[in-house]
Amino acid sequence: MTNYAIILAAGKGTRMKSDLPKVLHQVAGLPMLEHVFRSSSAISPQETVTIVGHRADQVRSLVEDKSQCIYQAEQLGTGHAVLIAEEVLGDLDGQTLVIAGDTPLIKGESLKDLIDFHVSHKNVATILTAQAQDPFGYGRIVRNERDEVLKIVEQKDASDFEQQIKEINTGTYVFDNRRLFEALKKINTNNAQGEYYLTDVIGVFKEAGDKVGAYKLRDFDESLGVNDRVALAKAEEIMRSRIATEHMLNGVSLLDPKTAYIERDVEIAPDVLIEGNVSLKGKTKIGAGSQVTSGSVLVDAHIGERVVVTQSMIEDSRVDDGVTIGPYAHVRPGSHLKKEVHVGNFVEIKQSTLGERTKAGHLTYLGNSTIGQDTNIGAGTITVNYDGKGKFETKIGDGVFIGSHSTLIAPLEVGDHAITAAGSVITENVAKDSLAIGRSRQVNKEGYAKRLPHHPEQQHDEEV
Ligand code: UD1
Ligand code: CA
Repeated sequence: MTNYAIILAAGKGTRMKSDLPKVLHQVAGLPMLEHVFRSSSAISPQETVTIVGHRADQVRSLVEDKSQCIYQAEQLGTGHAVLIAEEVLGDLDGQTLVIAGDTPLIKGESLKDLIDFHVSHKNVATILTAQAQDPFGYGRIVRNERDEVLKIVEQKDASDFEQQIKEINTGTYVFDNRRLFEALKKINTNNAQGEYYLTDVIGVFKEAGDKVGAYKLRDFDESLGVNDRVALAKAEEIMRSRIATEHMLNGVSLLDPKTAYIERDVEIAPDVLIEGNVSLKGKTKIGAGSQVTSGSVLVDAHIGERVVVTQSMIEDSRVDDGVTIGPYAHVRPGSHLKKEVHVGNFVEIKQSTLGERTKAGHLTYLGNSTIGQDTNIGAGTITVNYDGKGKFETKIGDGVFIGSHSTLIAPLEVGDHAITAAGSVITENVAKDSLAIGRSRQVNKEGYAKRLPHHPEQQHDEEV
């Protein structure tokens, strides 16, 4: 049988109090809608339809390459939202998964189980439910004395008795595709919110004598619907703990899993050690045997093996095997630190390549630079890459010794094995094997200090 999916993502998410559409708020570095999309792809839908409405263009741009988007001009309720998918799915045989874009924790495996359950029980509709400790806000599953599902009652429409029910609707369902659209034409807006409730189709099926079932999740956490930022933080916490567990089971040591902020798409090899209070974001990858200490932030960083990152930030850069970075270094986008480079305290590197075994140990800025191998960049070296208008390149060869506190005014080339004297302002290219000194000569005036006020001979006993 063929599977289809409908993802509901048209709502504004009023309770988020945000300019950003709710389904684009992120959990573990990905928009909630992306999590839902990935889970729903576990059932291999032949067609996925996303219902967009509020800030439609923004939402569409996230999913348009992998799903067909339909515009819901007015958000008249979840039932109305699903009904507009009829123009794409109406004539097809199969079963349709309906899932809300604000339930980012539902796992793909659970959706597969849901579909299998639906098919094997020959149901017309199957609701994914969960047992909640605090069911407030969710639709409740009303069952008869034989434990069969009768209907779903929304929080705002529930009687005192129904409010005691702890089995909740996760907002995810599987329906017989054709029957779904038939039933949707029979629902109305006679309810507390004056909306077309998708949940009302359950009652419609039941009245027609159709087989309706519920598949209950073992873990309530999966069903968390994010309606406000309190729930968003809860979803983040649960997702983060899941991600941390996956990495630990893959052989990564997390000194404090609670404060390891690892986004969904980060890849970490075995035998990596991640200390507490570390953020690993975006498409960051870390190779085997590396260590990242407290306070480090890595964004889209590709880190090789046996690298040590000590309390530093690395963005969109490549760091090869055996490199040591920090403490307090900032490697900015477009940089490449080749094997065994050392970047030390208070060093900022931007859009620069450092060759193998090159060292920049202290208080340095290297921007728009290409530096060869085995070169030593002395403390306090600054590449002057910007004249207020344009950016200019600095090229430094292999085995160069840049003396401490050198100011290298770009565009500039320093040849292999050259030396710049400490404290130099280098404005002209330095040829291979040359020594460049760019500073005024020191003048020593013998005895002159005696004439200055600080000198003991100038201290007269005026206060006697
Ligand atoms: C819904 C369910 C409730 C369930 C809960 C689970 C209904 C009537 N209620 O309530 O039983 O327990 O989810 O989280 O379905 N949307 C549209 N177009 C609309 C209205 C909503 O696309 O016209 C989208 C929203 O963007 C959202 C999803 O549908 O992604 C669910 O809507 P929401 O308003 O959050 O429903 P709940 O009140 O949470
Ligand atoms: Ca919701």
